[in-house]
Amino acid sequence: MAAVRDLANGDLREAENRDAIALAKNHLVQPWPYAGDIGAEARTLVTSGDGIYLIDGDGKKLIDGPAGMWCINAGHRREELARAMYEQATELSYNTPWYTMNTPSAELSRRLAEHAPGDLNHVFYTTGGSSAVETALRFMQFYNNVRGRPEKKKILSRGGAYHGSTYLSGSMNGRPRDRDWMDAADDLVVKLSSPDPFRRPKGMTTEAFEDFLIDEFRDTVKRTGADRIGAFIGEPIQASGGVIVPTRGYLKRIREICRENEILFISDEVVTGFGRLGHVFASQDVFGIEPDMITFAKGVTSGYFPLGGVMISERLLRDLNRSNHPDAMFGHGLTYTSHPIGCAVALKNLDLLEGGILDHVHEVGPYFQAQLKMLEELPLVGEVRGAGLMGCVECVADRGSNDPLQLDKNVGKRIDQHCHELGLLVRPLINMCVMSPPLVITKEQVDDLVGILREGISRTMDDLRKEGVWQG
Ligand SMILES: Cc1ncc(COP(=O)(O)O)c(C=O)c1O
Repeated sequence: MAAVRDLANGDLREAENRDAIALAKNHLVQPWPYAGDIGAEARTLVTSGDGIYLIDGDGKKLIDGPAGMWCINAGHRREELARAMYEQATELSYNTPWYTMNTPSAELSRRLAEHAPGDLNHVFYTTGGSSAVETALRFMQFYNNVRGRPEKKKILSRGGAYHGSTYLSGSMNGRPRDRDWMDAADDLVVKLSSPDPFRRPKGMTTEAFEDFLIDEFRDTVKRTGADRIGAFIGEPIQASGGVIVPTRGYLKRIREICRENEILFISDEVVTGFGRLGHVFASQDVFGIEPDMITFAKGVTSGYFPLGGVMISERLLRDLNRSNHPDAMFGHGLTYTSHPIGCAVALKNLDLLEGGILDHVHEVGPYFQAQLKMLEELPLVGEVRGAGLMGCVECVADRGSNDPLQLDKNVGKRIDQHCHELGLLVRPLINMCVMSPPLVITKEQVDDLVGILREGISRTMDDLRKEGVWQG
């Protein structure tokens, strides 16, 4: 009888999956679609998760290599997180932040302030990373308006950056392709080079490359005028741009120039925060900088609830308190600002991070990096780089060059397809595979992940050789 029921359940699940795929093709618009199949596309269906694993629509168990979108930090199916959301929802599921407040958001603010560097002891909560970046930038505009500097509004951003998908945050993006067909607030943005040491000019040392970037920054400030630049925004490690780890002194030197010129330094920690590098915030603990604002999202709730926020320096708030315009209103707020369920699950998530996950990352992170680095033995791999539990395998056509464009652009996708068959989801980015597994991954599971990735890359090399498009 049980066997019959299982069979029936299996058939039912299959039918449901088929339905979901058909419905998606008929009704769902996926993120980052191409015009040719927008609104008519189904993607890999996943039906459940557990720890570092996902189960796909065919019942196949996959390691969740990108941890969702860099966000399932505490792992899938954590009872404690589910319970925290349930308990909060049955106590107080929502309150208007316009004229009421709740306890979890106040308590979370205190806990985050304890982790944040220097005087960044206030928080504005948003619904995710884009709205956090948008909030930080609009706050800078408001701050300078109130301080009588309405011209000081331009924003410095860099090639390789990803800061979000709202109009202003999206205008900061600097990855190839992102903005080819999109409008942007270009009059507000001044672009700088990506601090990507792998792409430095041939023959240049990494030290000289850092000097070049700093000179470029200084020249840009001089040319544009410090009195016209309100903020610099940067990810400490550019995540979606391919895990770009800057040279050692770069961020500190940029921080210094910003301070000298009263340019607000916004550290976008949407990915690097909440344990990915072994700390709640990495700006100071890893890179030795004290920004004026830190944006965060994703790992703050381990992806269980859409929450983000901006840590804001006390000094900026006091400047506003003391300004000549105490009646000026920061006309900015979201229906879900300070959401009680989001803040409750973030509190429980912080308990988990402080209660062992951060220590675990310090232990397993170096092992992950060392194992991943060994993939540089493969002739298709130009560089493996990363920090903590974020890493990138970058493929190149010719190991003597760092030019990815000579190579079939779908190489990341090809690797992903092989890895999927072998039991691993990777995040393909043109010629790169980005890895950011759930932070609870063990060393044995790291071995599994890297082993599958090695095999996926080897199979891709075989394919490319057979097709005659690559002979490495
Ligand atoms: C560094 C960074 N900032 C901002 C965002 C935007 O966050 P969200 O997708 O939650 O709006 C992302 C998303 O990947 C990100 O990586």
